[in-house]
Amino acid sequence: MNNDQRLIEVAFPLKQTSLDSVHEKNVRHGHISTLHIWPARRPLAASRAALIATLLPDPGNAEERKQILERLAGRVVTRVKKKKLPDGRIEEQTSVETEGGILHWGRENSDDLNWFRERIREAYGGRAPKVLDPFAGGGAIPLEAMRLGCEVTAVDINPVAWFILKCTLEYPQRLANQRRSLPAFALESREFMEGYFKAKGFKDAALRVQLESLGLNGQEKRTSQPQLPTIRTDVVSVEADLAWHVRAWGWWVLQQAKADLERFYPTVDGKPTVAYLWARTVTCKNCRAIVPLLKTRWLNKKEGKRVVLTVDPNADSTGVIFGIQQDVPMPKGNTVQRKEYDKRIGGGTMSRSGATCPCCSTILTKEDIQHEGQAGRLGTVMTAVVVDGQDRKEYRLPTEDETRLADEAEKELSRVFAEIPFGLPEESVPQGASRASGGSSFTVRLYGLTRWRDIFTPRQLLALGTFVKYTRAVREIMDRQGYPSEWVEAVDAYLAITVDRLADRGSTICTWTVGWDKIGHTFTRFALPITWDFAESVASADSSGGYPGAIEWVAMYVRHAMLSCSTCPSPEVMQSSAISSPKQLFDAIVTDPPYYDAISYSDLMDFFYIWLRRTLQGLSSEIDAGFQLPQSPKWDHERNDGELIDEASRFDGDRQKSKANYEAGMFRAFQACHQALNPDGRLVVVFAHKHPDAWETLVSAIIRAGFVVDGSWPIQTEMGNRTRALSSAALSSSVWLVCKKRPETARPGWDTRVLEEMQEKIILKLRDFWDAGIRGPDFVWAATGPALEAYSKHPIVKKTNEAGQVLSVSEFLRHVRRMVVDFVVGRVLSSNGGAEAVTGLDDVTTYYLLHRYDFGMESAPIGPCILYAVSCGLSDAALTTRYDLLARTGGQAAVEESDEEEATGDGEVEVEEGTSSMVRLKQWNQRKSAGMGYSAAGAPPAPLIDQVHRLMHLWKAGDVSKVDEYLDVKGLGHNMLFHQLLQALIELAAVGSEERALLESISNHVVARGVLPVYPLGLME
Ligand SMILES: C[S@@+](CC[C@H](N)C(=O)[O-])C[C@H]1O[C@@H](n2cnc3c(N)ncnc32)[C@H](O)[C@@H]1O
Repeated sequence: MNNDQRLIEVAFPLKQTSLDSVHEKNVRHGHISTLHIWPARRPLAASRAALIATLLPDPGNAEERKQILERLAGRVVTRVKKKKLPDGRIEEQTSVETEGGILHWGRENSDDLNWFRERIREAYGGRAPKVLDPFAGGGAIPLEAMRLGCEVTAVDINPVAWFILKCTLEYPQRLANQRRSLPAFALESREFMEGYFKAKGFKDAALRVQLESLGLNGQEKRTSQPQLPTIRTDVVSVEADLAWHVRAWGWWVLQQAKADLERFYPTVDGKPTVAYLWARTVTCKNCRAIVPLLKTRWLNKKEGKRVVLTVDPNADSTGVIFGIQQDVPMPKGNTVQRKEYDKRIGGGTMSRSGATCPCCSTILTKEDIQHEGQAGRLGTVMTAVVVDGQDRKEYRLPTEDETRLADEAEKELSRVFAEIPFGLPEESVPQGASRASGGSSFTVRLYGLTRWRDIFTPRQLLALGTFVKYTRAVREIMDRQGYPSEWVEAVDAYLAITVDRLADRGSTICTWTVGWDKIGHTFTRFALPITWDFAESVASADSSGGYPGAIEWVAMYVRHAMLSCSTCPSPEVMQSSAISSPKQLFDAIVTDPPYYDAISYSDLMDFFYIWLRRTLQGLSSEIDAGFQLPQSPKWDHERNDGELIDEASRFDGDRQKSKANYEAGMFRAFQACHQALNPDGRLVVVFAHKHPDAWETLVSAIIRAGFVVDGSWPIQTEMGNRTRALSSAALSSSVWLVCKKRPETARPGWDTRVLEEMQEKIILKLRDFWDAGIRGPDFVWAATGPALEAYSKHPIVKKTNEAGQVLSVSEFLRHVRRMVVDFVVGRVLSSNGGAEAVTGLDDVTTYYLLHRYDFGMESAPIGPCILYAVSCGLSDAALTTRYDLLARTGGQAAVEESDEEEATGDGEVEVEEGTSSMVRLKQWNQRKSAGMGYSAAGAPPAPLIDQVHRLMHLWKAGDVSKVDEYLDVKGLGHNMLFHQLLQALIELAAVGSEERALLESISNHVVARGVLPVYPLGLME
């Protein structure tokens, strides 16, 4: 392809891509995230859209561009749906969705996809373009490139990621068009074959025909249904694809493991066990009683089935007696009262200050508990058992037998692990450095859980060991049965992935999800935090966290992947560093690198590494080489290469060194990308963008490595329901930055000329983006890439008035962002019309308007607020303290119980890099500082918003003379910006609110005084 503009450099279906990316989190069957957890996996919709728009040339005319974008992403439509509320009422809810296109989950294999595949090949002269992802992680980008028919190279330094990539891309593509007869044990199992035929759509009599053809005459009675002449009697082939062979061998493993493990999970009263609930224990430092550490005593909180665990001191106060209180009454009163009541009824022994001893009420601080933990003196106690009742989960106390059997598992461990390479997982849990966002991610260590085996109960270890043992046995039997080696490797690899799924739902980090009657994951967020009360699944049972569910999720992914990549070239999956470039040239590099200290990939994923190493050993020499070390590679100081994250523990705690090492490493990785890219190729880099300053460092590294940045699209991938309603305030989780190679002939530029050129070009883009409905922080980000072109087309930009000095990316972007926010504020102040941009409004008021326009007075995610603050030359800290404008409203956005969560119950929790805490604007009457709205003589005038708020206080106090005096001293009557601000604030305030009434009164008063504005826009102050 020649070096003409690509579609992504001109336009992008931002809203549709964001909507479909967010939606993707709700639907799971066959989705990549259900194969194996990997942190920060990007949505397939976003990856697909970015790849298509990068690989296709821009058609050069608006009409054709519009058609392509619609074929790609469909249209945005509003739908009204009825939703049943918990109290039975039906509520109408409006949702914004996409219609058409190929981005939405389920529409990815439509005819339009073939159309795009053909256009892409055409654009590359009839061949498949070569695409590289050097930080491929969980494989979303390469999978989508394969779907588009590209020749893909996926690289990751982490052996777990590399192995996941093989399972995600390589095996499905290799075996997509092959079928083999199911193994004999499967053909002889009525249970298995019934599942097979049912999945193929057979039921009732037709199903019986199929089963009988295999000699599996049922014990079932024939139903009274008449034999219809249309019943399919042709016998369906038992030549099955890879997904079914994974199911079959998974079923085999399950039968073996079940036989060994069954006695450890007794069924009581005929009701199958779903989970055992546990609490860690500590000895009270005062009365020596054994104290259960419980964060909550709620077992179930659903209406009509509210159950709590009761905890009372035993007769001699040496410990506690547990009980189960069924049918806890619903609380009365308003929301706050109900919450308070439930908190009291189900409060645990743990609180922020530590644990309270139920026998003597002594508080054991976190430090006390840590001390006991480090001395190896924390214990565990089984508190309750969840069983499958007739039509719902039931909760009861454990029997003596159950308690005994849980302990007995320990005796079996050495026998089972003797047969497994590397034995019990004694390897250390990583220390993890203290990160900018808080302490280490590995708080388990503080409580003495320092080896990986420590975060599992003996029975969990026994179960995992047993599944590992039989998974390892599969390959030999498959060999004997004549499976080709590529089948043996693939099937056993998926079974190893299934063991990892089991581990994720089978450690003591998993808690009971009270709202959903389910076991949670180890990685509900990317950390290993200590848990006090935890849930243990029945590994072999077909219930929450069990093996049958795990194998099904894996098989569903295999099926989906085979459909997606049956006709594309073989992918190349490499375990290597992005710092060393592959020895070939690529047409596009699309990648999502690690972002500073946001996620400790290798440390966290060592949780899986230790199990994979044990399960996979001996499967192939390549895999053995990948997993030869006891833990995954970190940073190699000698080779100056390794995992690129900002992790100070690798630099003796030196944060500066660690940060500099990360930044230098990223620069080298971008240099490697430059070497690996065709002269007319494109590099697309995904960034989590919480801190603009850190982002700027990486952008300058890209420019230094020889790239021109010419596009940037913010894509939302995460939104709670509440945020979703505020469409203009969307939280964009990532920015996709588009770059091309800078010609070697490019010459240094001069700041004045570069800024002029940027201004000329950007104003047109801003109008386009505004007209395309792009709002909020997205607007700032969308403008950033195109603006950067004027700057980055020069290797350096010199300052005209300062000899020897260069204009930095940060300085340049400061100009860009100010232009952008002035444009937005101009639109806000003039209610979308009138002034193109506003000048002269002070920084704080500009920030206030941007924030208020996007988020109102609601809590807002900190990321966009930092971006706005920086754009206004401020910081979030200054807005909180010095200007008293923002209030912090807590940690991560509260997780709301939504459909989304229900749907993700069995999928993985995808955690994005760059999410964070919340802030909100203070109400005018919460801003009580005596100095607000006044400024010392000679000092710059107080921010205009402070002056308005001061006026509101004065007006409320009722002394008009003071109001007039203030207006006169500040010259507000003549200040056009003041009048515009008043008007904008009135429109932003809620109808009927005191705020609005006050603002209207002040506005009327100012008009009545007859002091008309005499200064043109923006010239006051
Ligand atoms: C943000 S993640 C990629 C996620 C991926 N886009 C996905 O959708 O799953 C960044 C990846 O970079 C990998 N990584 C870190 N340092 C690396 C290096 N030097 N070379 C190659 N990969 C590296 C990490 O292991 C991690 O998988």
